Amino acid sequence: MTIAPLHIRRAVLGDAAALARIMGHPDVLPNLMQTPYTSEALWQARLTDMLALGKPDLMLVVERPDDHGEPQVVASAGLHPAGAALRRRHAMVLGISVLPEAQGQGVGTALMQALCDWADRWGQVLRLELSVFADNARAIALYQRCGFLREGLHIGFALRDGQYVDSVSMARMHPNPPRWSPGA
Ligand SMILES: CC(C)(COP(=O)(O)OP(=O)(O)OC[C@H]1O[C@@H](n2cnc3c(N)ncnc32)[C@H](O)[C@@H]1OP(=O)(O)O)[C@@H](O)C(=O)NCCC(=O)NCCS
Repeated sequence: MTIAPLHIRRAVLGDAAALARIMGHPDVLPNLMQTPYTSEALWQARLTDMLALGKPDLMLVVERPDDHGEPQVVASAGLHPAGAALRRRHAMVLGISVLPEAQGQGVGTALMQALCDWADRWGQVLRLELSVFADNARAIALYQRCGFLREGLHIGFALRDGQYVDSVSMARMHPNPPRWSPGA
């Protein structure tokens, strides 16, 4: 199978429609904490907030050429502050979603690598954390491949299509925290 080249870049306001399309997709949305009837306007508001100067959020998108060679956004992933507390500044929360037609082709892996690289080498992040529904085996496998460990089970964590379902909390600690190199 030939995989089209991937281009990873930071999201811009103009990606709002694409993010609504990806995260509102009926096969993607149930695995996220989003609610139905998302919209471009909602994502414009969220992106406006995330992209404001000084905000630590990192929102990436993946583009690849469609059948006509035009770049199409097929996935997104982000890192967001774990909270406002000063002593939690070393932690960020990760989220990711890939359009069904682009899944199973390495897009999620490429995005995870980009986020981990940013966290480890640029973002001053020591702890990446996330919450994933306990039955989302593909996502859990991807996270484990990227160095995330299971930390615990949350019973009846969230309502999903009429049922309270469990989630797993996972975290990845920086594998080699940066040090000061005097004189370097
Ligand atoms: C979970 C999710 C992000 C994974 O993204 P993805 O792009 O499918 O992930 P990848 O393609 O990198 O890896 C998934 C599989 O493809 C395989 N793969 C990786 N690179 C590949 C390539 N170049 N060619 C073919 N297959 C490949 C991987 O081995 C992996 O196999 P497996 O999971 O079947 O064992 C995606 O399925 C998704 O968005 N799901 C819905 C939303 C969701 O669950 N988000 C997470 C919420 S916590």
